[in-house]
Amino acid sequence: MTNAEVTDVSARAIELISEIFAGKPEDPAPLYDELRELGDGVHYFPPAQAWFAFRYDDAQTIARHDGIFSSDFFDQAPMGIHDPTDPEHVRFIDFSRRLMAFNDAPRHTALRSVVRKAFTPNAVNRWRPTVERAVDELLDQFAPGQDVDFVEQLSIDVPVEAICAVLGVEHVDRPMIRAGSAGLASTFDPTILGDARDKAIRDALRMVDSIDSVIAARRAQPADDLISLVLEAETEDGENLDAADLLSQLVFLLAAGNETTVNMLSGGIYHLLQYPDQRALLQNDLSLVNAFINETLRLDTPIDMPPPRLARETTTLGETEIPEGAFAFQVLGAANRDPRRFDSPDAFRIERAPNPHMTFNQGIHSCVGAPLARLEGEVFFTKFLTRYPDFSAGDEPARLRAGHVQVRGLEALPIRL
Ligand code: HEM
Repeated sequence: MTNAEVTDVSARAIELISEIFAGKPEDPAPLYDELRELGDGVHYFPPAQAWFAFRYDDAQTIARHDGIFSSDFFDQAPMGIHDPTDPEHVRFIDFSRRLMAFNDAPRHTALRSVVRKAFTPNAVNRWRPTVERAVDELLDQFAPGQDVDFVEQLSIDVPVEAICAVLGVEHVDRPMIRAGSAGLASTFDPTILGDARDKAIRDALRMVDSIDSVIAARRAQPADDLISLVLEAETEDGENLDAADLLSQLVFLLAAGNETTVNMLSGGIYHLLQYPDQRALLQNDLSLVNAFINETLRLDTPIDMPPPRLARETTTLGETEIPEGAFAFQVLGAANRDPRRFDSPDAFRIERAPNPHMTFNQGIHSCVGAPLARLEGEVFFTKFLTRYPDFSAGDEPARLRAGHVQVRGLEALPIRL
């Protein structure tokens, strides 16, 4: 490309990424399509001081080369959003920098080992009856023909009830957990500052304190739950971790899968309403439920942009040089529709095989809770479609949540059961 062409590409990329960051498009897919095909699909966005990778192979390169693309930067960036003189901010930084998500190997390996064994697909199956009970109790509250908002009244309780039961914190106050999870999620958004950040940190720390007291109780008296399993494994494996490390991982488990799983469930129902032929296929053969979940996750990527990675050395993505010390974002929602990887990428086809979507990311930080999210989806959709096979769209249209860049999903989905 000539210099003039490079300048045109950069200017157009900045225009399009600005639109995404302004939260304007309800559906960013057309913008992703253009950005993926513009130049080499890797673009610098000055307001975020970061590079963005829109193609599948480049997103995968970032995930797989964790020695170059580091996650260990919590106390470095973004600079200045925390107040080192505020004791609550200091506590929060200490909590966050211990999270597996913000560490590189080998420390990441040790932190992840705390929960890894409890989250293999086989180990997660042990929680199936618990998830089934939580879903049954929820579905019992409704009847065929009733009008409901699927997001607010149905999907929102599934992951919270499931993870509370799995961790053994059923008795902990739900509004506090919801506020704590939302608070923790919003602290990762660098545009949340001032009073809003203070409140988010306070809400998150309240949840941290309450899980800390549950851990103390389980140390004194183990039960049949994940916290007790983790404490037992800690003693057996003798990992070099302290109590604060364990606390951070357990709190993150409680919070990380809530909004994402809600978005997976509501995205699935939305697609069934949009594509009657695919719905008929699934309802005639519920053994397709896991393939249906995969295709939903591909097209409705709940985490469109995971936290960025920091380049530890100068490297290349596509034809673009990423300088040492620069941040790089993977745009998973764009990678999941890359025509180089998926035939007819915008089509919703539940029988798509293979379906190597990047929705749980890849590499060492790929989602540890994915087997639980999949189990929740399998149990929920199977029971829901069996109990309410004739559900239809409600009177009001579905509403996408606007204004979010990293986490996407439906805000409202009125349906008739
Ligand atoms: C559909 C639901 C879910 C989606 C789409 C999702 C997506 C993701 C993604 C994209 C990452 C990688 C972040 C990165 O690369 O920095 C991640 C990491 C993680 N997820 Fe999930 N997640 C879901 C459900 C869950 C659940 C249910 C749990 C807990 C029970 C969970 C716990 C975690 C944890 C602990 C990590 C950090 C892993 C690490 O850094 O090694 N997630 N998730």
